Amino acid sequence: MKALILSGGKGTRLRPLTYSGAKQLVPVANKPVLWYGIEEMVAAGITDIGIIISPETGAEVQGKTGNGEYFGANITYIVQEQPLGLAHAVQIARPFLENSPFVMYLGDNLIQLGELRYFLQQFSQQQPDALILLRSVANPSAFGVAEVDDTGRVLQLIEKPKVPPSNLALVGVYFFSHLIFDAIANIQPSARGELEITDAIQYLINQEKQVLAYNLKGWWLDTGKKDDLLEANRLILDTYLIASVLGEIDAQSQIIGRVQIGAKSQVINCTIRGPVVIGSNCHLENCFIGPYSSIANNATLIDTDLEHSVILEGAKIAGIHQRIIDSVIGQRAQLTLAPRRPKALRFLIGDDCQIELT
Ligand code: G1P
Repeated sequence: MKALILSGGKGTRLRPLTYSGAKQLVPVANKPVLWYGIEEMVAAGITDIGIIISPETGAEVQGKTGNGEYFGANITYIVQEQPLGLAHAVQIARPFLENSPFVMYLGDNLIQLGELRYFLQQFSQQQPDALILLRSVANPSAFGVAEVDDTGRVLQLIEKPKVPPSNLALVGVYFFSHLIFDAIANIQPSARGELEITDAIQYLINQEKQVLAYNLKGWWLDTGKKDDLLEANRLILDTYLIASVLGEIDAQSQIIGRVQIGAKSQVINCTIRGPVVIGSNCHLENCFIGPYSSIANNATLIDTDLEHSVILEGAKIAGIHQRIIDSVIGQRAQLTLAPRRPKALRFLIGDDCQIELT
């Protein structure tokens, strides 16, 4: 059994963060989303892992993730020159996958930790040609959608339908036998110019191959969008964060609940109410940090009131006395208040930023 994790694409729905970096490296509870997928594979016993990367962000993904040693895996990187679809990614990975059955995992998806192992067992025992996971969602038009009969058999799969036949979305985790390669060879690019994996699975269904569908009961998030990213951050902190304080906390500070603080971080006159994770080498002074906040390494927060937010590496926030909530602040971004009450506001804002002043 092998794994193919997709970590290419342009991440348009997470701009501007994805202008400078891969969406799969955006941190959830201070860990790149992609790494959760790798760890889930290894936990389920799959260590031969191929990762699809793009020419634009591949070097960063590879540089950060390495050859797999850190995870106890063996990682092979495969460059997809152009984002020509999920099925195209499978096609170009054939030299790596050979004829082995495999699990394909979209690198920006997160499913409840531990669930993968169960579906892998089902796939190994029943040996279908494809096993897909379905989950009811409020906005099926944003996903691949399945139409199933009363017995749960899949009749039809449609990619991003305007009029969805059901509210069952295709989760970004799929199990395949080598027959998927024949299916891909027999499909045409969709209207958006991509070889859709949904169409390849539909081909298997039409050929009366065995396609099993399971309803995913645990949570599932596609972190390629801001609100889902914040929700993933909340869930991971809520469920898995282990308290540990390595940095320096002064006597005026108060740490309440589950809080993790990395080495060489300084906390001066702050109240931190967990679950909160703070990386290493951060400086926090006169702050309130509320639940569900993740602050990456080398961040500086002074006179700041923050809650339910993700702060990326090296960001600086100072003197903002209104509470900051539901926010994602990019790497090295600076959010400060002018020293005197300003007559005018001064900005240097990148493309696609979203700023709301009240
Ligand atoms: C892809 C698939 C879609 C699936 C979704 C899950 O869409 O094409 O069928 O439901 O992932 O995250 P994308 O996110 O690439 O638009």
